[in-house]
Amino acid sequence: MKALITGASSGIGYEMAKELIRLGYDLYCVSRKEGDLINLSDEEKSHVTFMSYDLSIEDECFRLIDDTKDLDLDIYINNSGYGDIGYINTTDINKEINMVKLNDIATLILTKEYIKRFIKKDKGRVLVTASAAAFGAAPYMSCYYATKAFVFSLMHGYHRELRNMKSKVKVSILCPGPVKTRFEEKANTKFMIKPISQEYVGKYAIKKMLKGKLEIVPGFTIKLTHLFSHFVPKRIITKVLNKSASIKE
Ligand SMILES: NC(=O)c1ccc[n+]([C@@H]2O[C@H](COP(=O)([O-])OP(=O)(O)OC[C@H]3O[C@@H](n4cnc5c(N)ncnc54)[C@H](OP(=O)(O)O)[C@@H]3O)[C@@H](O)[C@H]2O)c1
Repeated sequence: MKALITGASSGIGYEMAKELIRLGYDLYCVSRKEGDLINLSDEEKSHVTFMSYDLSIEDECFRLIDDTKDLDLDIYINNSGYGDIGYINTTDINKEINMVKLNDIATLILTKEYIKRFIKKDKGRVLVTASAAAFGAAPYMSCYYATKAFVFSLMHGYHRELRNMKSKVKVSILCPGPVKTRFEEKANTKFMIKPISQEYVGKYAIKKMLKGKLEIVPGFTIKLTHLFSHFVPKRIITKVLNKSASIKE
């Protein structure tokens, strides 16, 4: 069994990779650096092929597609991503453009390609890491929230399309709230609700994806937010989400 996973060099992706190795998968791990993958045991490392790509660059996404054309994958996990926080008049537009390229453009290019390959053999699973940010909007993280809403909507559309064609290919959307990873530091933010552990989220995501769950929401508080998001007006959800992170002064 083979899986390709982006952003496995740290955080949630690293834990998902460890869980897949435990379940007997051989992994192709994509990110710019090897990062925490060097901490895997020798036995775990023997199941990992590290591939270096900067997925915020379109050509690099197409290079990855080409380099993996002969791989018979069972699972594709699209997890690379980052956020940023700040006032509209101080946030860096280039960091935001790059975020859209990584969180959205790369997700579009790669999920579409691997879903197409899976449709051909009528088998395969795709898991995309969105966020609870997809349930609403938030000031100071507007761009990040918008990138995750795009991913959430895209995957819901693909799910329905696959259902309509009676395909056995399954897609899942992971929607965590705050998780203790390097995300907080990279986004220059401070979580205002207690983050859950990356170990828990990684294991939970794999378990639910293998069960074929469409929306995967780890943690009680965010499950509740998710539930309310179905019938509470978006502006109220936005107020709640607004309190989940603040700008690190
Ligand atoms: N932590 C949270 O609270 C939280 C909540 C909801 C959703 N998420 C989402 O979860 C996903 C994983 O984030 P995390 O929290 O685990 O943070 P993380 O530890 O910072 O992991 C981010 C991963 O993305 C990779 N990455 C970043 N830029 C890349 C690029 N240009 N090309 C290829 N790979 C790149 C990183 O590897 P390299 O730097 O080596 O490239 C790393 O492996 C993200 O999509 C994030 O938006 C996080």
